[in-house]
Amino acid sequence: MIEQFAKDVDIGFSAQEKTLSSKYFYNKLGDELFVKIMNMPEYYLTRAELEIFTQKTTEMIEHLELDSRRHFELIELGAGDGTKTKKLLAAMNANSVSYDYIPIDISSNALETLVANVSKDLPNISIKPRQGDYFECLHSLKNSDHPKVVLFLGSNIGNMPDDIACQFLQHLSDNLNAHDKLLLGVDLIKPAAIVLPAYNDKKGITCAFNLNLLQRMNDELEADFNIEAFEHAPEYDEVSGVAKSYIKSKCEQEVVIKAIGKTYHFSAGEKIQTEISRKYSDKIVNDIISDTEFDVVTKMTDNNNYFADYVLNKK
Ligand code: AVJ
Repeated sequence: MIEQFAKDVDIGFSAQEKTLSSKYFYNKLGDELFVKIMNMPEYYLTRAELEIFTQKTTEMIEHLELDSRRHFELIELGAGDGTKTKKLLAAMNANSVSYDYIPIDISSNALETLVANVSKDLPNISIKPRQGDYFECLHSLKNSDHPKVVLFLGSNIGNMPDDIACQFLQHLSDNLNAHDKLLLGVDLIKPAAIVLPAYNDKKGITCAFNLNLLQRMNDELEADFNIEAFEHAPEYDEVSGVAKSYIKSKCEQEVVIKAIGKTYHFSAGEKIQTEISRKYSDKIVNDIISDTEFDVVTKMTDNNNYFADYVLNKK
């Protein structure tokens, strides 16, 4: 794991424009900061999707075409803290369908919190958590022939550039059977005045979340980042709908990373891209599923039209 981290940092920092994968945000502190982000007043995504899961579960369940006579698997990719999913689970229980809930997350901390949270409120649910990178967990889906509903919520897909999202959905659809469903939650394109504050909150929680990557490299890779010499720099392009987070060097400096055995140079104002948070439209969703076996069944939105959950059917 640490070797992989060192490798990824070296590749990312050796590129023309420095990058670092957003998957490294989620260590113990990163998980905690992300929970805080989800509760910030500026982070409208959580509230908007929770509204859909509060007001539209009947419609959701109907379009998922759950058959009460067939046991199915409810697989959640990148499971989060379970607040939204609990709404769906409770509504499913009221419809007396039989299922296993299989949350998959890269963070074992996040999974433990989720399992505790769900079991407390819904003690009768069969939960089978799996820890791992969800790209790698996809093939294991093939090991069972139960019908499947895959949840990919919270605009987690927005962390992938469109070509990767496309490949990912292709790979996912290849591992599902006809009539299996995907519930895909995406943040919709909207003005910068709403999007930017969600990634640049007043209390500096997102800043801490982003700069935690530097601390993590100091702790795990024996790097000597002077965290004060860098700043959080989010950007959003309203036209394309792409938000990006960067860590920007405030001055010209060198950073030694012992675990890699290299020194990296940063010029004043140079940026490391640490995250893409893509926003969507119907057109973009249709583009990224065009090479897959998925069809759009329905789209549910919150009352502000900030967020959408699409039900997709595997042909
Ligand atoms: C978990 C990927 C949906 O991009 O909005 C929140 C992560 N980053 N604030 C997002 C995040 C900064 C989040 N996703």
